[in-house]
Amino acid sequence: MMLHIPGVLTPDQVARCRDVMTKADWVDGNVTAGHQSRKVEYNLQLPEESQTAQELGDMVLKALYRSPLFMSAVLPQQVFPPLFNRYDAGMVFGSHVDNAIRTHPQQPIRIRTDMSATLFISAPEDYDGGELTVEDTYGSHSVKLPAGDLIIYPATSLHHVTPITRGSRIGSFFWIQSLIRDVSQRALLFDLDMSIIQLTRDHPDHPSLVNLTSCYHNLLRQWAEA
Ligand code: NI
Repeated sequence: MMLHIPGVLTPDQVARCRDVMTKADWVDGNVTAGHQSRKVEYNLQLPEESQTAQELGDMVLKALYRSPLFMSAVLPQQVFPPLFNRYDAGMVFGSHVDNAIRTHPQQPIRIRTDMSATLFISAPEDYDGGELTVEDTYGSHSVKLPAGDLIIYPATSLHHVTPITRGSRIGSFFWIQSLIRDVSQRALLFDLDMSIIQLTRDHPDHPSLVNLTSCYHNLLRQWAEA
């Protein structure tokens, strides 16, 4: 499942990210790349252990946990501390699949990457190229979103970032281990949750609401690895 979540960061938070990043030191993005990615990655990154990355990463994490759509679609067990990268003109990230397991260099964090996420910090009009392209069983999907918007996609999918031909593309990227490992179970819970929300909105006194909500929680209880 690919899902676009609009407005995860407010315009003020996006401005804060950009402001901090213009003063930050960037390093070669190869530092976090896996063996396969290292051959195809060419971008810049805020050092994972830097104060800047940690401060902005905390801001992104808090915003994610406030997003009902993110929580419902992902059902996070743990979110990897968000990282930040920058592509200038000529930079590119070739086709790759993300590492299955991610370990944090400082914190005692090791997750299985069920879903990958990209949060757009640059506005689309600030650069040309730089589309995130994700391949799944339904074909190839090209993604370029407004600043502050998030895309989540299966970490199992091949993906790449097309070359930047003008400007700079700044974004945050991270991975999520879900409470629900099975992708079809996770999709089913998301559909059910969205339907319950819609029914609550349209027919708040509908007698089936209690039963449907009970089904949702009992399925979650049965399937969750908590
Ligand atoms: Ni990737």
